[in-house]
Amino acid sequence: MRNMDEKLAITVGEVHDYWNTHTLGLQYVTDKSVRPGTPEFFAHIRPWMNPYKFPWIMERIDREAKLLEGKHLLEIGCGMGYDSLEFLKRGVLVTATDLTPNAVAMTRQHFELERVQAEEIRTANALDLPFSDSTFDAVWANGVLHATGDTRRAIQEAKRVLKPGGRAVISHFYRKPSWMYLLHHLGRENIEYKEEDPPVNEFYTDEEILSFFQGFDVVQAVREHHRLLPVRRSGLKANIYTYILKPVYNLLPESVAKHFAYKLSVTAIKI
Ligand SMILES: C[S@@+](CC[C@H](N)C(=O)[O-])C[C@H]1O[C@@H](n2cnc3c(N)ncnc32)[C@H](O)[C@@H]1O
Repeated sequence: MRNMDEKLAITVGEVHDYWNTHTLGLQYVTDKSVRPGTPEFFAHIRPWMNPYKFPWIMERIDREAKLLEGKHLLEIGCGMGYDSLEFLKRGVLVTATDLTPNAVAMTRQHFELERVQAEEIRTANALDLPFSDSTFDAVWANGVLHATGDTRRAIQEAKRVLKPGGRAVISHFYRKPSWMYLLHHLGRENIEYKEEDPPVNEFYTDEEILSFFQGFDVVQAVREHHRLLPVRRSGLKANIYTYILKPVYNLLPESVAKHFAYKLSVTAIKI
């Protein structure tokens, strides 16, 4: 990999191995008779996937698609392809990529079933994108760049492949201080996923995140959060979450809760 030191290459390997067996969506399967890759499967998990679960993501797709109809969008870290699918349905020319072959295979299957045609669906590493400079009108990444091992580099790679004036729409980075940051640092027990959390999830202050956008004009930076939902989990962290954090956080007025929101999403234009 281009200019990547040994430590980062090892991290990318760990990230790859984790996500290749934990493609986002598999954890939402509650009916074990539903076979991955079937129409029933994609319908079964759809309500839990980002654009359908969080209305602000669908609104953002609508907003961007209006600007990008007939133009070229690169999705980095497409998972099972739900976000790209929504762009394709709106007439955007999509290149869907993910680090892991299993995500790419799922996305391919998903698009075939939905009868939509991407420009390309392929594996690609956000830290070393296999595209020429100034290729795309927009880059979209949802829940990816803070999980790559080098967030700054991922943003600069996105900039490289964007045309001048192109849009980087990054939903989201993990922020601190936030309730999620607190939970992640309360010992080693996993908290986000049932069996094992991803090897990398970096948290930054808003200022740190914005400092990564050198060479961009940041047009929107918005904190996003939801009220804490029940988890069916046992263990120390799960109990702290259920009996302390959730009731306290959910009582906070919106203006205060936003200070501890765990996501920051950024839209920025390449200068
Ligand atoms: C939290 S999942 C989000 C998936 C999808 N964007 C969604 O919202 O459903 C993170 C995704 O980022 C991908 N990923 C992690 N590191 C990556 C990298 N260096 N390059 C490209 N994709 C990466 C993982 O394979 C995984 O599919």
